[in-house]
Amino acid sequence: MASPSPEQIIETQRQDWNRVASGWEKWDRFFDEQMAFLNHRLVADARLRSGMRVLDLGSGTGYPALLAAQTVGPSGNVTGIDLAEQMLEAARRKATSLKLSNITFTTGDVTTLPFEAASFDAITTRFCLMFLPEIPKAVAEIARILKPDTWVAAAVWSAPDKNPYLKIPIDGIKQFVELPPPDPTAPGIFRLAKPGELAAMLQHAGFTDVSDQEFLSDVRFQAADDYFSSLMDIAAPIQNLWAKLTPTQQAEAKQRIIQTAGQYRNGSVIALPIAVRMIAARMPG
Ligand SMILES: C[S@@+](CC[C@H](N)C(=O)[O-])C[C@H]1O[C@@H](n2cnc3c(N)ncnc32)[C@H](O)[C@@H]1O
Repeated sequence: MASPSPEQIIETQRQDWNRVASGWEKWDRFFDEQMAFLNHRLVADARLRSGMRVLDLGSGTGYPALLAAQTVGPSGNVTGIDLAEQMLEAARRKATSLKLSNITFTTGDVTTLPFEAASFDAITTRFCLMFLPEIPKAVAEIARILKPDTWVAAAVWSAPDKNPYLKIPIDGIKQFVELPPPDPTAPGIFRLAKPGELAAMLQHAGFTDVSDQEFLSDVRFQAADDYFSSLMDIAAPIQNLWAKLTPTQQAEAKQRIIQTAGQYRNGSVIALPIAVRMIAARMPG
């Protein structure tokens, strides 16, 4: 079977993330509390400060764009760009409830950014770049639109073995259907997990002072049931695999996933490890 074209991949991504937008809104408070530290890390790595003009790539429901807008303040502004209009609608509702008037969310593809050269003071991006069919093209776009002596900061998932939070359901599904071995060059959750891969692309595009660090933590749930339903509500790529199972297989897989997650109980919570690669780089002055 021929590999899908970049256009087809982008269209599938748009549909996938629009489909889970209501799930993201439903679990927003929980994931905000659990993963806000990543937003703070990105804001720090991008050296955000008052008055800056910032672009956030693949903002989804507003992370880390909303924190960026609070950080740059009323004299600065943030643009969040994403393929999925329904994710952005949720982001806009949050901006309104936070009374942020210095943030705009716009629909678009990160690989062809609709902005002038050297027009931003910083770029942030969380859990987006690995879903692009042409990552080097997006990196070239990032280099094009950043002003001299500015920073880009990105978060992407590290290797599956270090991410039981994501690996448990994938393993649970694999027990029932044969999944093709992952193509290391195909877009997906772990596409940029390899140490140094995104860093090398940034270097190739002319960035300096590139750092690539694995950031370890966990996501904490009161109950394994919450873990299962939240992940199935928000993780579009895992939902797609889940759809390959029959209802009977789904019932059995769910039981196994919940049982495996239960092994991570630590006191009153189930703490599922995550490992995120934090990559930052400077556009030379
Ligand atoms: C896992 S979500 C992350 C959203 C948000 N940054 C966060 O961390 O909560 C991935 C987002 O990337 C967006 N995305 C995927 N491919 C994209 C592309 N080519 N251009 C713009 N956005 C894209 C999806 O629509 C989705 O909202």
